Amino acid sequence: MVFKPAKWPRKLRSSEWYSGSSKDAIYHRGWMKNQGYPDDLFDGRPVIGILNTWSDMTPCNGHLREMAEKVKAGIWEAGGFPMEVPVFSASENTFRPTAMMFRNLAAMSIEEQIRGQPMDGCVLMVGCDKTTPSLLMAAASCDLPSIVVTGGPMLNGWFQGERVGAGTHLWRFSEAVKAGEMSQEAFLDAESAVTRSSGTCNTMGTASSMASMSEALGMALSGNAAIPAVDSRRRVMAQLSGRRIVQMVKDDLKPSDILTREAFENAIRTNGAVGGSTNTVVHLLAIAGRVGVDITLDDWDRCGRDIATIVNLQPSGDYLMEEFFYAGGLPVVLKRLGEAGQLHKDALTVSGESIWSEVREAVNWNEEVIRPLDKPLTQKGGIAVLKGNLAPKGAILKPSAASPHLMQHRGRAVVFEDIDDYKARISDDGLDIDETCIMVLKNCGPKGYPGMAEVGNMGLPPKVLKKGITDMIRISDARMSGTAYGTVILHASPEAAAGGPLAVVQSGDMIEVDVENRRLHLDISDAELALRLSNWQPRHERPGSGYAWLHQEHVEGADTGADLDFLKGSRGAPVGRDSH
Ligand code: FES
Repeated sequence: MVFKPAKWPRKLRSSEWYSGSSKDAIYHRGWMKNQGYPDDLFDGRPVIGILNTWSDMTPCNGHLREMAEKVKAGIWEAGGFPMEVPVFSASENTFRPTAMMFRNLAAMSIEEQIRGQPMDGCVLMVGCDKTTPSLLMAAASCDLPSIVVTGGPMLNGWFQGERVGAGTHLWRFSEAVKAGEMSQEAFLDAESAVTRSSGTCNTMGTASSMASMSEALGMALSGNAAIPAVDSRRRVMAQLSGRRIVQMVKDDLKPSDILTREAFENAIRTNGAVGGSTNTVVHLLAIAGRVGVDITLDDWDRCGRDIATIVNLQPSGDYLMEEFFYAGGLPVVLKRLGEAGQLHKDALTVSGESIWSEVREAVNWNEEVIRPLDKPLTQKGGIAVLKGNLAPKGAILKPSAASPHLMQHRGRAVVFEDIDDYKARISDDGLDIDETCIMVLKNCGPKGYPGMAEVGNMGLPPKVLKKGITDMIRISDARMSGTAYGTVILHASPEAAAGGPLAVVQSGDMIEVDVENRRLHLDISDAELALRLSNWQPRHERPGSGYAWLHQEHVEGADTGADLDFLKGSRGAPVGRDSH
């Protein structure tokens, strides 16, 4: 796409607050001046909101307060006026019942912060899982020039001579303790080793995947995704992004110019190539919904089918983000996709140039970390979308994190009605389960948990683990952490709490999984399924007030991104009526 920059100079949105000699202008400028801003800063230059998800309670973004200073430096250098604005920070490891329940609340609040305040452009300072999509959703709905700056991943963790990944090894060690292969003391020792420095999870978990999605969508400068949080080049990236957003405002280069269908298809393919998180599915669907691009689960399956996973990172592979950066990072992957005819090369980025022009000179410095296309980690790396009478609107599976021998399987269902039921019974030696069974977890979808928690990769029963078995098929309407692994079928839609077929599966039913043919079948007659559905009653009472009520009343299914129905679409960022 050829982008035609707007004429500059011209009157900007912030001038509605700060220009002129009216009482209102004096009011707005005067109060700002109590911070020591000289008069000439209100001369019509671009006002840039640095939307910062820094919070002591979002440890993955704990360094963004300091990094914002580098963004500001870049904005000053380019002739802009930076204003840092703290925004809702939905920390993955803090919020209960799950940060996902607050992604939409964060997006809604941040959208209104943009709409109601005198910003001409935005720097989205993000990192931890939900912070990236929530700010992208808000920016897409407002459609002011915006650029993503992620905080970058932690340095590699090491424990007892082994490279350990944040999240991934938490699951591994936890299973090892249950299987009697690791002591509780060693598990406690490992606690600090897996989170060794500032930054986001260092695996290709959801944070790294969403950083990669931001770059593949064209919403971040090339090379942004992989630079470690503590590397000086991360701060350089922040400063360069600050410079760039000022020019984006002058050019009027907006999210709607960048977030096209082609950009989303590039991101979907990139997710397959990097072995990215299943969570990117709901987030990209939600972001697309904000700009009115009709991306569906079928696009995920279609675009991901022929994509080989070439990035050898945990949880699918061996290495961590630090090595990915040293190998050349995402530009190398995008270049490989381009050479294979799997990239829309003309897609526009925040640089004002095409994505191909950004990556065509990229060099791969380590072919063990970023594999050649003929030596992939997994030949079929995209997200597989399974459908059938158990999930008419789809369920997803990440083949690169699954076990090949379970890709076609018929097994007896062992059903857990909700997460409490699972926790109460999973360690019971009397539970009638073996490794050929299929574990089914209900009521953990967007309405169910509520908020669609990352519990889909439920741990195996100890009595199965003790046999040395490390994987079984698990089916739910939940999500799973991007750092997790296993043959885990997620996001079953419609969800159980909305009366989807998952709600009426019973222990003892037979379930057929056929990933190659994208089939997920509950082996009961249509008449029996219809009878069970007609007798179904919701298991949990709905909340009567507060945000929990709003969420449950309005959240959509995972198959369309689990956004709130009334937030979809782009509403722009008008000046609005001044109340003074
Ligand atoms: Fe915040 Fe992983 S928990 S990035």
